[in-house]
Amino acid sequence: MLSSPSLPTTLESKEDAEHNKICQDYNHMITTLPKGNGWRVQHLYNYNGFWLDSSTLKTNILLNTYFKPQPSDIFLASFMKTGTTWFKALMFSTINRHNYTFSNHYLHHQSPQSTFPMIDSEDYPVNDFTHLPTPRLFATHFSPTLLPPCMTSCKFVYVCRDPKDVLISKWIYLSKLRSKDLAPLSLDEAFELFCNGISEYGPYWDHVLSYWKDSLVCPDKILFVTYEDMKKQPLVELRKLATFMGKGFTLEEVERGVVEEIVRLFSFENLSGLEVNRRGVEKFGKLVEVERREFFRKGEIGDWRNYLSEEMKDRIDGVFDEKLKGSGLVRSSRDGD
Ligand code: A3P
Repeated sequence: MLSSPSLPTTLESKEDAEHNKICQDYNHMITTLPKGNGWRVQHLYNYNGFWLDSSTLKTNILLNTYFKPQPSDIFLASFMKTGTTWFKALMFSTINRHNYTFSNHYLHHQSPQSTFPMIDSEDYPVNDFTHLPTPRLFATHFSPTLLPPCMTSCKFVYVCRDPKDVLISKWIYLSKLRSKDLAPLSLDEAFELFCNGISEYGPYWDHVLSYWKDSLVCPDKILFVTYEDMKKQPLVELRKLATFMGKGFTLEEVERGVVEEIVRLFSFENLSGLEVNRRGVEKFGKLVEVERREFFRKGEIGDWRNYLSEEMKDRIDGVFDEKLKGSGLVRSSRDGD
C-alpha cells in the first residue's frame, strides 16, 4: 500500500528551502564585504563592524535565524583569549555545585570546553539546546550587536583582559592553528593588525565598549568582570559572579570553604595539570580542531612584557585610551597595570 506524504517530510523540505536560501544569500553577501588579513585563515570579513572568518560569519547568520534564547539563559561573553576556558569552569562549577563533589568533580575528567556550548560554532538548526537544564549556560565571542536582539532579556557575564596580554595570547594561539598554506604571521604584523582593529572578532576596543556600555545601562543583565580582578581577588569576584547568576553562596557555604575550594580546583595550576586538559582535542564546528593543552599557556598577568617593546606598549595603550576615552572604562580598572 502506498503511504501518503507525511507532515514531517513537508516541514523538512520547507526548512531545507529556508536553509538553502540563507546559504545562497550568505554566498552573495560575503563577496560584497570589506576583507582584511586573517590570523588563522587568509581572510576576515567586516560584518556589521566586526571582523569574522567566513565560517564564523555563516554560523552567525544561522544563529540569528534559528537560535531561540530563553530569558533565564546565562551567557559567558568574552573576546578570544580573555579567559573563556577558566570562566567556563568557574560558572559551570558554581551553578552545579550541588551536583558534584569536589573530590570527584565532572571537571576532573572532562574539559571546561565540554561544560556548555559555544554558540559561535554550533550546527544550526540541528542543535536546538532544548534538552539543557535551566538556567542554560552558553558561551560566545560575538559582540552584542551580532546577537539576536531578543537576547537582551538574558544575562551576560563579560570578561575583559588587558589588550596587550590578549594580543600576545591570541598571536601565539592562532599562529599554532594557522593554515600551513600561509606564511607565518610575525608579531610585528599581528601587532599592526591588532592596533588597526583587525583580528578575529575585533576590533577588541569595540567589543569591550559594546558590553561595557550595555553593562552601565543594564547592570542587572550584564556583569562586567576582568581577568585581572579574578586573578587578584578570586574569592570576592567569584562571590559576585555567583550572586549575579542567581546562585549566591550562603553564609554556611562560605564558612565551609566552598568558594575557596572552587577557586583552588580551577586555578591555572590545577586545571592545566589535569590529564584531561593535557591530552586530546576540542572540536569547534566542522573545521577547527584544537589541542586542549593550547587553552592553557601561562595564565599570567603581564606576560606581554616578554614580547612587546616600550614603544609597542605605548602605542597599544594609546590606541585603547583614545578609543575608550569618555566611556568611564579607564586603564587601571581594565588592565593589569
Ligand atoms: P595566556 O595565553 O596568556 O596564558 P581563552 O580560554 O579565552 O582562550 O583564554 C586563554 C587564556 O587564559 C590563556 O592565557 C590561558 O593560559 C589562560 N587560562 C586558562 N586557564 C586559566 C586559569 N585557570 N586561570 C588563569 N588563566 C587561565
